[in-house]
Amino acid sequence: MKKTEVLFTKEQIKSKVKELAQIITNDYKDKNLLIVSLLKGSFIFTADLVREIDLDLRIEFMVTSSYMLSEESKGVVKIEHDLNCDIKEYDVLIVDDIIDTGYTMEFVYNHLIKREPKSLKMLTFLDKPSRRVVELNADYTGYKVEDVFIVGYGLNSGHYYRNIDHIFIFV
Ligand code: IMP
Ligand code: MG
Repeated sequence: MKKTEVLFTKEQIKSKVKELAQIITNDYKDKNLLIVSLLKGSFIFTADLVREIDLDLRIEFMVTSSYMLSEESKGVVKIEHDLNCDIKEYDVLIVDDIIDTGYTMEFVYNHLIKREPKSLKMLTFLDKPSRRVVELNADYTGYKVEDVFIVGYGLNSGHYYRNIDHIFIFV
């Protein structure tokens, strides 16, 4: 594996996950929390986050994939696996690893809002605001990052590096 710059250490990740989980525990204590985790990228983050949330909650998964039609045209988001449950009784929180252009989160938000959940919010561990194409801000954000390509902690390059326990800049 290439030697590259560490952006967030295992310890930094752990403390940010705890901080987010405490906020969610507080904000959702009187609610009926359903976490919708977007695979594959957020599988490790979701597993860590939910174990730090001190509430009864439900977890479901969606699998999304995205690609650019061409350099300047719109990003295309595809749902590879959809939710197969009714969400009307739930306060739904969409959880993803990173918001980049915003296409994925926007698409999933618009998809789920049609199913009339009690409430619908977005949480992302990482955010690259300088890369945003659609106007969208997550309700909860872990770390903001510059416009660099990062891997580890669920994030991949060519399907690899998801298992690395810290986040590093891939060059
Ligand atoms: P979007 O552009 O906001 O729709 O993000 C699409 C997906 O691109 C994210 O869910 C990530 O899986 C992936 N992605 C964006 N930036 C990075 C990165 O720096 N490293 C690895 N994956 C990324
Ligand atoms: Mg993702």
